[in-house]
Amino acid sequence: MKDKEALYKEILPQAKSLLEGETDEVACMANLSALLHHAFGFWWTGFYRVVGDELVLGPFQGPVACIHIPYGKGVCGTAWKRGEAVVVPDVEEFPGHIACSSESRSEIVVPVWRGGRVAAVLDIDSRELATFDDTDREYLERIVETIFK
Ligand code: SME
Repeated sequence: MKDKEALYKEILPQAKSLLEGETDEVACMANLSALLHHAFGFWWTGFYRVVGDELVLGPFQGPVACIHIPYGKGVCGTAWKRGEAVVVPDVEEFPGHIACSSESRSEIVVPVWRGGRVAAVLDIDSRELATFDDTDREYLERIVETIFK
């Protein structure tokens, strides 16, 4: 497999051109999920949208997942509350981790900002431990910026 950073460098311009001029956020999230999921072969790749005081499942690729996540709960709710990305090398070590799938071993959640507020989170799960690091965080933050640019 290609070096992770090299792959992100290919994906970032693809994401930009794929979403260019597109204002429908669900369509943008759907295509970004597919782009990332199939480029990297993650276990689960998708979005949860902020709806009132909870996160609600949005477009994703992978097995079925939990639909509602309260503010501050799980990795997703924590990333929303903190307003920053959360990288979890081992989900069993993260207190309050919500196990939608028993196959998930590591995870990254990146907030999606719109007008100074978190509008959604991008959640990616891996079946291997310690899949994600600062390289993923940095590029995924740039990739999700293309949704509400
Ligand atoms: N593990 C997440 C829940 C969402 S699923 O992984 C798709 C969490 O703890 O917030």
